[in-house]
Amino acid sequence: MSDQASNLRKLMEDRAEIQSENASESVSNNIFDQDKNTRVITITSGKGGVGKTNLAVNLAIALQMIGKRVLVIDADIGMANVDVVLGSVSKRNMLDLLEDDVSLEDVLVKGPHGVTYISGSSGVEKALNFTVEERRRLHNKLSPCSDFADIILIDTGAGLGRNVVDFVIAADEVLLITTPEPTALSDAFAVIKTYFLHSDKKSLRLVVNRIFDVNEATDTTDKLNATSKTLLNVPIECAGYIFEDRAVTECVKKQIPFIVAKPNAIASKCINQLVDSLLNGKQMTITKGWLEFLNQIFDF
Ligand SMILES: Nc1ncnc2c1ncn2[C@@H]1O[C@H](COP(=O)(O)OP(=O)(O)O)[C@@H](O)[C@H]1O
Ligand SMILES: [Mg+2]
Repeated sequence: MSDQASNLRKLMEDRAEIQSENASESVSNNIFDQDKNTRVITITSGKGGVGKTNLAVNLAIALQMIGKRVLVIDADIGMANVDVVLGSVSKRNMLDLLEDDVSLEDVLVKGPHGVTYISGSSGVEKALNFTVEERRRLHNKLSPCSDFADIILIDTGAGLGRNVVDFVIAADEVLLITTPEPTALSDAFAVIKTYFLHSDKKSLRLVVNRIFDVNEATDTTDKLNATSKTLLNVPIECAGYIFEDRAVTECVKKQIPFIVAKPNAIASKCINQLVDSLLNGKQMTITKGWLEFLNQIFDF
């Protein structure tokens, strides 16, 4: 058994022990409650290269630093790079779960800085073309994720490809990252429009990245909010912002997340403030949870 697998098994055993110690309800109720308590947050963008993966990885580390159990799922098709930003290497990816002899433990990577993640695969875009049996297999093997994660962060690709849209629509919460550039804004609005037309949940908030001053975040939010209110009749809120920071680029080159290498950098401070906003600010109501998310992704 690999180190990762044994770590995970230990984690799950600990979890089971705590659950059985606290068991005042039936086992099935516990599983149900556990699932509903897992926040599934999809990180997406209209335009590519605006900072999704850096947000996902650094947010995951900041959350686990304050005791949250976080799982990152790399669902960026064709440009899966969570492991690159983390400075990690994964031998397996999510689609390997289709093999009979590959278990969830085999694809989970206990990466550096305490981040557990599942690597992306270029084949994930075929999600809707899987046979019922293949979808059932992925669904069943991924289901236990909510047992050991308080928060599941999903790093998607950019734009409105079918696969990205599925992940966005199925999530209880969406963080839509954009820069203040007009091109990024119009692409972000396209995502907002699709989300509000197709999702039964209305929990999408902005993260404005690469700003030079706070006014840029306010202006960006105001512009998207005004368009959204006029055309869709829904207001858009901002969950947080991240300053343009050379530390981000330097750390990407060194393959060490900036929140670890440069905890005092302004980008790191912004990530910590975003954590505060996510955990203590206006809370989204959780009604679906992980299993319902999987049901929607795999079409059950
Ligand atoms: N706040 C920031 N300050 C400076 N550069 C940034 C910032 N955010 C992102 N970048 C740059 O943008 C690049 C792309 O970021 P990444 O997270 O990979 O985007 P995406 O996942 O959306 O494609 C990074 O490698 C980095 O060079
Ligand atoms: Mg990315």
